[in-house]
Amino acid sequence: MNYAQAEKMLKSCGQEHVLAYWKKLSKKEQAALLEQIATIEPKSVRQCRAALGVGVENGCRKESENQDGKAPKVAELKGAALKKAIAAGEKELKAGRVAALLVAGGQGSRLGYDGPKGCYSIGPITGAPLFYFHARKILARSIRYGAAIPFYVMTSEANNEATVKCFEENEYFGLNPDDVFFFTQGMWPGMTKDGKIILDQPGHVFMSPDGHGGLLAALKKSGALADMKKRGIKSVFFFQVDNPLVEIADPAFIGYHVQEKSEYSLKLCAKRDPYEKVGMPMQFGKSYRMVEYTEMTDEQCNRKAKNGKLYFLYGSPAIHVFDRAFLDREASKAMPLHLAFKKIPTVVNGKVVKPDAPNGYKFEKFIFDILPNAKRAAFLAFEQKNEFSPVKNAEGSDSPATCKADMQAKWARWFAELGVTVPTTLPLEIDPVYAIDAADLKSLGLWLAAD
Ligand code: UTP
Repeated sequence: MNYAQAEKMLKSCGQEHVLAYWKKLSKKEQAALLEQIATIEPKSVRQCRAALGVGVENGCRKESENQDGKAPKVAELKGAALKKAIAAGEKELKAGRVAALLVAGGQGSRLGYDGPKGCYSIGPITGAPLFYFHARKILARSIRYGAAIPFYVMTSEANNEATVKCFEENEYFGLNPDDVFFFTQGMWPGMTKDGKIILDQPGHVFMSPDGHGGLLAALKKSGALADMKKRGIKSVFFFQVDNPLVEIADPAFIGYHVQEKSEYSLKLCAKRDPYEKVGMPMQFGKSYRMVEYTEMTDEQCNRKAKNGKLYFLYGSPAIHVFDRAFLDREASKAMPLHLAFKKIPTVVNGKVVKPDAPNGYKFEKFIFDILPNAKRAAFLAFEQKNEFSPVKNAEGSDSPATCKADMQAKWARWFAELGVTVPTTLPLEIDPVYAIDAADLKSLGLWLAAD
């Protein structure tokens, strides 16, 4: 892109001020700015402005619309139904029709770790990183079912290089590199209240990652969706980087999703308290929508069902299975934008000013906003202690300490199923390739030692 093209594009969406300091920039800075401008799409700028109420297009969901939905029907698989679902899932896994999709482009600001969150050390004994547990689980399942589970990893511009390096240095944790596909999510420019792109330096636009919903556009742009199609993938298991307890490509979940002919399936767990900060899927007519905890009224949080339990009992920890064709269909559509009002460094009269109060908006897309578009959706209950313990904060709840304790407690329960009590003071860690569940552990014949 040259200057004239940049100027024309910026004018087309009311942003010509981005070139205000052009003449004061060095040649190198000019080239870098043009490169950055080339990544900004006028239609995205218009969508951001619309979300702020500036401009014409309406890209923003009305938060208060249709607030009182119904609680969805959530399956609790047991006995024969569970066996059937597992068999259906195993069939998909054996046929190589299942992929794993990880969103790892977040900034991890609450944890305060300087690097991709996936490289954060979590193994209670080995100190292995979060990526290790994810990759080894995928490897374990692909060994068990004799078919590759291609692994698609979304990174951001800020952490892509370090993520790829972490995989390379660890020899892909045993996975075949041909089955690991890295792709980078998009960035959106920050804007003032009146819809003007913010410069954080005279020759630099402030940009931030476009949220985990940026996944769809990135899957398409990178060729990952085409790669899935070429490989004959039907079901895509989606998960987040910060939860090492997740049961990736869990056959029961895959099987239930396929049995239900669902396009978007969600694993849900019972809230620990009425105000737990998790999104709740609600039914509105024939479709579903995720209602964020911030959108729920007091009455909705506390409403009781006839059985005395919370009516809106189940929350979503972002463990999903998507139909690949559904992702394909959704990838070309514009998604709603969510706004965050933040302190953003800004250039004023050629000088960079660090504001004391929020002064501009960041824009994000959320993957669950495609839920209403699913022709069929399915909801499956699971027990939180077995599959969800995220590393969000440096200390306190949802921290490395609670996560490590939860990982060890889960492994200790596997031992307990085999009649062996592991003292809580004893550090415990199991490589997923060694055993991915209690049955695996049993088949290793360890029990002899305990006799
Ligand atoms: P979080 O919402 O927990 O955000 O992401 P975060 O960036 O990891 O952490 P904080 O809020 O800055 O402390 C949930 C999941 O979505 C991914 C994250 O990597 C994580 O797996 N994510 C989030 C992206 O891939 N891209 C984004 O732009 C945002």
